Amino acid sequence: MRKPVIAANWKMYKTVSESREFVKKVVPACESFTGVEVILCPTFLSLANMVEDLKNTSIKLGAQDLFWEKEGAYTGEVSPYLLSDLGVSYVIVGHSERRGYFGETDSQVNDKVKAAFSFNIKPIFCIGESLEQREEGITKKVIERQLEQGLLGVDSSSAADLTIAYEPIWAIGTGRSASVEDAREVIAFIRQWVFDNFSPEIAQNIPILYGGSVNPDNLEDLLAQEEIDGALIGGASLKEDSFIKMVTAANNF
Ligand code: 13P
Repeated sequence: MRKPVIAANWKMYKTVSESREFVKKVVPACESFTGVEVILCPTFLSLANMVEDLKNTSIKLGAQDLFWEKEGAYTGEVSPYLLSDLGVSYVIVGHSERRGYFGETDSQVNDKVKAAFSFNIKPIFCIGESLEQREEGITKKVIERQLEQGLLGVDSSSAADLTIAYEPIWAIGTGRSASVEDAREVIAFIRQWVFDNFSPEIAQNIPILYGGSVNPDNLEDLLAQEEIDGALIGGASLKEDSFIKMVTAANNF
């Protein structure tokens, strides 16, 4: 049985003090939960304080991006070496906002996935099609390309630590979540790809999440699908009460 995962992607929201306030409220409410893996991904600025705030809790910390080099003259970048030294456990890689606004390619996403693994940080590898691609009927083709290129050269021992997030671009921040059936179908396709390209065991064990307009009202229907192991949540993860509701629902699943 895979444990449900609730991951918060705070994007470019929350000051350092707002992030710490959130932790103060959420930790006591969720601390005793053993049935859910909770991951908070604040901006880089909040990571150092949150490592301290989350010490001795079961809540994990993730970054939202990383650069693939260990160190060097790369103004403005943050490396997996620096993140791992700080105590960060996860990193979101290949989010569609990075691909779309910052021109990240599959090949760069691949470099980032491998860099994360080489410093023992678990990537939350994001893939998903645009509305145009869905309407053209090429969703699975796009997903397959993103898997093939983004995970190129990743070996099975690393792949066992992978989390994959299926986030259709048209469902992100739009209030228009994918239907449970659409999400289930693509996630089943991703799991089959992992089965064929890594191993049945890895396919059986790794979490594959859905992301895109998840909120306390639609989360349970998504989690009710055997294939869907949890959610990567933007907007609805920013408010303590809705986040606690979602973590509680996942823990009770
Ligand atoms: P929303 O939950 O705001 O749609 O964002 C989803 C997302 O992009 C998570 O990474």
